[in-house]
Amino acid sequence: MRRLLAHRFSLPLATAALGVGIVTASSSILNNHPQRRPIFTSHCAPKINKPAEAMSEENIPGLYSQDKLRSMSINITGMRIPYHGKNESFTEDQLVAREPFSQFNNWFERAAITEGIEEPNAMCLATATKDGKPSCRMVLLKGYGIDGFKFFTNYCSRKGRELEENPWVSLNFYWEPMKRCIRVEGRVERLSVEESTEYFHSRPISSQVGAAISPQSQPVPGREFLLEKEKELLANVGENKCVDKPETWGGFVVIPDVIEFWQGQTNRIHDRIRFRKRAPGECPDNVLVHEGENGWVFERLAP
Ligand SMILES: Cc1cc2nc3c(=O)[nH]c(=O)nc-3n(C[C@H](O)[C@H](O)[C@H](O)COP(=O)(O)O)c2cc1C
Repeated sequence: MRRLLAHRFSLPLATAALGVGIVTASSSILNNHPQRRPIFTSHCAPKINKPAEAMSEENIPGLYSQDKLRSMSINITGMRIPYHGKNESFTEDQLVAREPFSQFNNWFERAAITEGIEEPNAMCLATATKDGKPSCRMVLLKGYGIDGFKFFTNYCSRKGRELEENPWVSLNFYWEPMKRCIRVEGRVERLSVEESTEYFHSRPISSQVGAAISPQSQPVPGREFLLEKEKELLANVGENKCVDKPETWGGFVVIPDVIEFWQGQTNRIHDRIRFRKRAPGECPDNVLVHEGENGWVFERLAP
């Protein structure tokens, strides 16, 4: 946190030390140096005259004050980094197959060996209640193939309950260093108890305990409450260091009917190629909609 703050504030602070206001300094930096890591600017930020090395989160003036909160208006319109150049576009002739699973595998394997991507399997999962109120959160992809995309969670969590009443979901992967994104849409089904149990016991014991003691998404009185439950369960973990999988914990598979591949271009003419299941009776015209394999068609979408 300290390093982050120092990083975010050091440029404007250095400029402020020369007697220039933070707003002026920040906007000129953002306008003139498009490749610089973005920083926050604020219309209402106070002038800070201390040198950067004297700053910490404890003594940045007004950082947590009600005054600052009331007048908060953070302008981040200048946050912008370059994406791919014109010669690195993603075109139809680069598709590795005319169905989306091979293409997903191709991009995923690349993401897994790309520097700066520590969890290529981290994905955002969007669910909705039966009356359409959405929520999303990160989960980890734990397997994929033509059957779909698998993840594990607590069936009584918020997402678990929403999936119970509405199985339609969307997933989103964003691999920032590659400027690539994949969106999946489809419905979920629960994995078998056997598959969930096998995966549960493949996890480190600490993760098994953590999952077993956590009433995920429920309010709890404090962190101590959870640590106490963890201690109790750990005391009862037998010789074989194994915890029973809670009945309420298990996996889902997302069975997709749409998978979209996105690659970002600096000029904002991004590439979007969407695979979707062919509608009954649909005949691809090979202009807008192209014939794929295994019941899929694909089309380019405007960015
Ligand atoms: C990178 C990352 C990966 C996560 N993976 C999982 C996961 O695989 N399963 C899970 O239940 N929660 C996972 N979480 C926690 C969820 O984001 C979320 O806090 C939790 O599942 C409760 O969500 P809910 O209240 O919407 O059901 C992960 C969080 C992060 C940041």
